Amino acid sequence: MTNSETKATLSFSDGSPSLEMPIYKGSIGPDVIDIRKLYGSTGMFTYDPGFMSTAACNSSITYIDGDKGELLYRGYPIEQLAVNGGDFLETCYLLLNGELPNAEQKKEFVTTVTHHTMVHEQMQFFFRGFRRDAHPMSVLVGTVGALASFYHDSLDINDPHHREVSAIRLIAKMPTLVAMAYKYSIGQPFVYPRNDLSYSANFMHMMFSTPCEPYKTNEVLVRALDRILILHADHEQNASTSTVRLAGSSGANPFACIAAGIACLWGPAHGGANEAALSMLEEIGSVDNIPEFIAQVKDKNSGVKLMGFGHRVYKNYDPRAKLMRETCYEVLQELGLQDDPLFKLAMALEKIALEDEYFVSRKLYPNVDFYSGIVQRALGIPTALFTGIFALARTVGWIAQWKEMISDPEQKIGRPRQLFVGSAKRDVPAIDKR
Ligand code: ACO
Repeated sequence: MTNSETKATLSFSDGSPSLEMPIYKGSIGPDVIDIRKLYGSTGMFTYDPGFMSTAACNSSITYIDGDKGELLYRGYPIEQLAVNGGDFLETCYLLLNGELPNAEQKKEFVTTVTHHTMVHEQMQFFFRGFRRDAHPMSVLVGTVGALASFYHDSLDINDPHHREVSAIRLIAKMPTLVAMAYKYSIGQPFVYPRNDLSYSANFMHMMFSTPCEPYKTNEVLVRALDRILILHADHEQNASTSTVRLAGSSGANPFACIAAGIACLWGPAHGGANEAALSMLEEIGSVDNIPEFIAQVKDKNSGVKLMGFGHRVYKNYDPRAKLMRETCYEVLQELGLQDDPLFKLAMALEKIALEDEYFVSRKLYPNVDFYSGIVQRALGIPTALFTGIFALARTVGWIAQWKEMISDPEQKIGRPRQLFVGSAKRDVPAIDKR
């Protein structure tokens, strides 16, 4: 962050003195106006619901150019990381440490994560308190938050070693917890992690193996899952990441902060969109019904949205959606499901929407969730768990952003202000006068 030569001057039509504010330049992307002195100097706040024009922090982790449809993790394009960048744990290392690991660093990192995949044995009793039909996201909010009560030895947020251990624990244990949530929901025994498998293969093993017969992981499907994880690993200051930062700004422990992030991710406008996109495709049912559905989407009174389309930042094709469509094709091919009706429907819907004036004029393009539901369904992951997989992937981004925030000297407790539009001060009337 460098100070620009140009300054912003805010002037007022009522004759109040104008205010000069510094402008900072990032390495790429829009400059920011530093408004921190605004309230002290003028007694006024800025008003920005939804944070459309607000940079809440400086960060060197992830960069998105929404107009170009570009996503960089620590400077590396997502397309290169997904295709040539090794596996998900390499991406984790990159997001956490700023650089890709060399062979030795990778070996050490993989060994460390692998040796933290088991959860405390008592965790299984905690799971048993949930109803079997509980939504996995509610189970994850509860169990991830509960990790704080099992790992007291890594809760001192001021100790860099504690922060590191918590980060590793969260990345390592999330697959175990997500798989346990699934196994619990279908009444099968929990499956312990296997240290001889890769991160993604181990997750598939914990999800799909049973004690009754050997389970062999399929390399194409493992690669597809790994790609889902890489594509969802971080995404700048989105709602759940900002939630994690805000929760962490009070000094809360990392397990509590990630639980808060999971709660935010659950919403259908955020992580719940892949589940909603798949349900939407199932509801549309056939290519013949697309025109009627598109008409409903355009009718503002219908409340219907084209799920998996549109993004706060991308005003171009989400680069992750292209990669996900490619993976979708590979997985369906591998499983002999090339004629999958939902995939065909999704492609037809995408084509029609991309040519329709309503979507074109609003710059609405497919986002990553448009295809990820179809891939996950083909992998055997139940719809209700889709957002849980997203949470598993995003944990590394959340914890990398949390770590960055804790070590930022400018970090303060997050405390937005408001434009108050309620009653001014008044007296409480007696009950017979109300
Ligand atoms: N279907 C139909 N119309 C849409 C859609 C959509 N999916 N998305 C936006 N629009 C319309 C809005 O109605 C609005 O129209 P108007 O200008 O006539 O009022 C215009 O496009 C701009 O949309 P906003 O809601 O202002 O855009 P915003 O940036 O606030 O919302 C969001 C982004 C929440 C992602 C929105 O596009 C949406 O709800 N999409 C569907 C849900 C979804 O796929 N979410 C996943 C996001 S990606 C992720 O979390 C991984």
